[in-house]
Amino acid sequence: MSNEGQLHVILLGAPGAGKGTQAVLIAQRLGLAHIASGDLFRQEQNSGSELGEIARSYMEKGLLVPDEVTVKMILGRITDPDCAKGILLDGFPRTLEQAKALDQALTEQGKGIDLVLYIKVSNEELLMRLSGRWICRNCQAPYNVVELLPKVSGKCDHCGGELYQRPDDKEETARKRLDVYFAQTMPLIEYYTEAGKLVEIDGGKAIEAVGEDLIAAIGVRIGR
Ligand code: AP5
Repeated sequence: MSNEGQLHVILLGAPGAGKGTQAVLIAQRLGLAHIASGDLFRQEQNSGSELGEIARSYMEKGLLVPDEVTVKMILGRITDPDCAKGILLDGFPRTLEQAKALDQALTEQGKGIDLVLYIKVSNEELLMRLSGRWICRNCQAPYNVVELLPKVSGKCDHCGGELYQRPDDKEETARKRLDVYFAQTMPLIEYYTEAGKLVEIDGGKAIEAVGEDLIAAIGVRIGR
């Protein structure tokens, strides 16, 4: 398998683990395309597309969007020109079926996943983070009321967009998302461990420290 200088990295972790927060920083630093399945679904909802409406009906209940729909969307996205240096997947794959479909698609292109970074955080911390999160309606950058306040209240530091609380961050839906994560996404930890690709990162540290650990893990894997 040869990735021809490209890097294919997956960020794995529960809702609220910090995948989106770290993905923005890492993708920028390494020149990778940040592909976040949840962000893509929210963009589809904002555009009023049929895919967006299908996704909304699952997301508002805290359930996963069906594999068929999700896989088609992501496999289409990973061939875009901005993926030339590599990709950083955030929120995908989330089921064994998605992981196998991704492996197959990459294998057909003579490529493969280099590394899966599993950001591990305790359940209490996850629920606390989700209830304190605000995101930008425009660029989806995440903020929180404890560690990462925007410079101007209610406005995104990056694009000036309006900050809002995601409807699926309400406690009942957030708990459902965590249940779904443990039932449907946790098996991926074994899948990628067996493939020799998984590295566990302590996501309970401060944002900057987690970022340094993630960058160091990528550096070790690619020999830099
Ligand atoms: P998605 O948007 O992917 O949400 P998620 O995986 O549930 O993840 P989150 O965005 O909630 O958390 P995160 O890990 O990115 O944390 P963040 O960095 O924001 O998915 C939403 C829905 O879309 C799913 O429920 C499903 O319906 C559907 N979907 C998406 N992908 C799918 C797929 N592949 N298959 C099927 N359906 C799919 O951080 C959280 C908060 O904590 C922020 O406020 C942040 O500032 C703060 N924070 C981050 N790191 C730290 C730290 N180290 N210390 C303190 N605070 C921190």
